[in-house]
Amino acid sequence: MKTQNENIVRHYQDGGLLERIDAGLRAAGLDPHAIRAADLTQVDEFHIGGREMTLRILAQMNIAAEDHILDIGCGIGGAARTLVRETGCTVTGIDLTPEYIDLAKELTTRCQMDQRLFFKIANACEMSFEDETFDGAITLHVAMNIEDRVALYDEAARVLKPGAILAIYDVMRTNDEALEYPAPWATSAATSFLKSPKEMRSLLDNARFDLIHEEDHGETARAFFQNISPDAAAAPPPLGVHVVMGAEAPLKIRNTMKNLNAGRMAPVIMIARKRS
Ligand SMILES: C[S@@+](CC[C@H](N)C(=O)[O-])C[C@H]1O[C@@H](n2cnc3c(N)ncnc32)[C@H](O)[C@@H]1O
Repeated sequence: MKTQNENIVRHYQDGGLLERIDAGLRAAGLDPHAIRAADLTQVDEFHIGGREMTLRILAQMNIAAEDHILDIGCGIGGAARTLVRETGCTVTGIDLTPEYIDLAKELTTRCQMDQRLFFKIANACEMSFEDETFDGAITLHVAMNIEDRVALYDEAARVLKPGAILAIYDVMRTNDEALEYPAPWATSAATSFLKSPKEMRSLLDNARFDLIHEEDHGETARAFFQNISPDAAAAPPPLGVHVVMGAEAPLKIRNTMKNLNAGRMAPVIMIARKRS
């Protein structure tokens, strides 16, 4: 498991992401040290549909300003900042990748949002929080990397208060064909563990969650990747998820389009409530 997690970190961590984001901000006519969270909209949410999908998920969570929300696998903190901006809540984000946590902290400081946002390096399957700490949790495009889903959802249930919402947005399997790699979340099949919606329903039930809402976003995904396709006529914008994906972005995007068009996978939202 240790080697598997090291391989996951190796996939995401490339040492140059902050420089690329700063270059993109400058190219967009912005001073990287005088930004607001809204200036990062195109680049800081590393999931299909970006900010728009975070807002869609948020609308189903009923978060109050006094709530403390956990972002499991927070990446560089974009969704966490969105939650705080929209609701005034407090968010703690955890992630396996040290470079992402450094960036989450740096970008949050630059946006002057440190008071309600906290980030730490941690494994989603063994978090150090006390039982029943959080009023809700989100996890966006993370579980595709996690083999031990029983540990993941048991751990999420442990740290959530009874009745709290766990909002999941993950790419899920829709048939049994082999996927093409590299994908945005994995260099190879060795760190890719997609589940089907049916498997997910059973995993959540076993971890004491009631599934209260489910949405398939296969169409959203096809439109999203068509828009950022390296084969599109227009040059890519200075800021976008291609910046986060790094040098192999064109290949990862082409492979994702093949996987989506072949009906092998689709992103799905699942809103679940921890049983009281
Ligand atoms: C595709 S990114 C999504 C990041 C973020 N949720 C977002 O939507 O912008 C997947 C993230 O999951 C993190 N991750 C993968 N396995 C993890 C684990 N076991 N524990 C914590 N984070 C993990 C990776 O480090 C990476 O930041």
